[in-house]
Amino acid sequence: MQQHLHDTVLVLDFGAQYSQLIARRIRDLGVYSLIVPYTTMAKAIAEMAPVGLVFSGGPSSVGEADSPYPDPEIYRLGLPILGICYGLQVMTYQLGGHVSSAKKKEYGFADISLTDPTSKLLASVHQNSQIWMSHGDSVDKMAEGFRVTATTPNCPYTAVENDAKRFYGVQFHPEVVHTKEGKTILSNFVFGICNAKADWNMGNFIQDSIQKIRETVGDKQVLCGLSGGVDSSVAAVLIHEAIGDQLVCVFVNNGLLRKGEAQAVLSLFREKFNIRLQYADAEDAFLQALKGVTDPETKRHIIGKLFVDTFYQQAHSCGDISFLAQGTLYPDVIESRSPSGGPSSTIKSHHNVGGLPKDLKWQLLEPLKELFKDEVRQVGRELGLPEEVVSRHPFPGPGLGVRCVGEVTKTRLDTLRDVDAIFIEEIRKAGLYGKIWQALADLLPVKSVGVQGDHRTYEEVCTLRAVTSEDAMTADWYRFPPEVLQKCASRICNEVPGVNRVLYDITSKPPGTIEWE
Ligand code: XMP
Repeated sequence: MQQHLHDTVLVLDFGAQYSQLIARRIRDLGVYSLIVPYTTMAKAIAEMAPVGLVFSGGPSSVGEADSPYPDPEIYRLGLPILGICYGLQVMTYQLGGHVSSAKKKEYGFADISLTDPTSKLLASVHQNSQIWMSHGDSVDKMAEGFRVTATTPNCPYTAVENDAKRFYGVQFHPEVVHTKEGKTILSNFVFGICNAKADWNMGNFIQDSIQKIRETVGDKQVLCGLSGGVDSSVAAVLIHEAIGDQLVCVFVNNGLLRKGEAQAVLSLFREKFNIRLQYADAEDAFLQALKGVTDPETKRHIIGKLFVDTFYQQAHSCGDISFLAQGTLYPDVIESRSPSGGPSSTIKSHHNVGGLPKDLKWQLLEPLKELFKDEVRQVGRELGLPEEVVSRHPFPGPGLGVRCVGEVTKTRLDTLRDVDAIFIEEIRKAGLYGKIWQALADLLPVKSVGVQGDHRTYEEVCTLRAVTSEDAMTADWYRFPPEVLQKCASRICNEVPGVNRVLYDITSKPPGTIEWE
């Protein structure tokens, strides 16, 4: 692994659900942070020349047959180390202290009792400040050279440190928002102890990337598939900034897009950014292929395959291509490997990457693969992408095909597009768009009786869904003020021909998925 251009804090991942959060918090302080598997050898770490290490938490207990341990040589690198939860326990164990299985598991809030005003790690933290604990085991004998700097009634070694070696440990989680002064603690470690420079910002990232893209690409051509989503839009604009007309984008209109979407993508990229853009209007082909199909998996399969075929057909007319650009993000990179460096079970199989042909002749160019989503949005803003694009909700590849429940026809799609447009417009008008992870409308294969004026109607039923989520793995339904839903329902029934009933979906995930199909 290479040394990074910026001062870097490495997070050794012991399998905690919070490892990414640690890296994100450090980056929020303006310091570059990367996650590496706990198996990374001391020599490899030294080559990366970080300014400090954080040992993440993890679900294991020290002293068991398959407990994860870092290379003990790490303690001889002379680098500052912060151990968090399991990270503290493993450091204590390897350095000669003792960890025991606590009689009582501690989970939730606690008040910290500071016992040493000279602590560098806890400088400026207030007495009794709220912290967040989540552990079964705890340290019952510190390693040699350590002293206690904080306690709680249930945990005598809440924070410990060895100043001479610059080793620090906390039993609680400074990276979660429930720890009120967690940011101060991480900042004390990163700046006060590691002496890191705060030079990680998206302006610098853009400059470095442009340089790197130019070096990698030389005078060759890059192909980028645009979907209208945040990641591919930002990747395209960044690459265009670096190599101008050596970039060619392909945009496939599969006829399953939102109202006005195809036109918006074309005018933004062609007119505002002057990007070479091949447009494939494949609406008829998709409608034809989906005719009579109602099974969700079959639909997904047909849409995915036809997309890949159409994309490659277009690509062939783009001239001599050497690179394929993709909007891969850092969480995709981390999630596709396990903490121990092997393949992880969390790879998201049905999303995006699945359709690439095996004999791909192009090299991949993934300029965003070091970034978290918030950082990608920031890069997009700095490159002049409009806020509607930068903060857009996720939209699935198969688009309205999996929201037109039952048969997909042009008429039903147009109806759904109108319903969806009203729903999104009302959410934006109420100022709620940014509070919601994803909002969507589905048209159901059900008709219901209604009454409009003097007439009885017998029309289609639609359902609205809005969820909050961190990462789409779990989700909760969004509690709208009733008047927003009321406005949506009344506008939809009045303005969209063919719909006379509106439902609101209050299923969380699990057991429901976010999409209906
Ligand atoms: P589910 O419905 O599985 O969706 O709860 C989780 C997230 O993934 C999105 N999604 C997709 N995204 N291609 C994509 O790019 C797909 O085939 C696909 N299917 C679901 C969904 O919108 C939600 O954000």
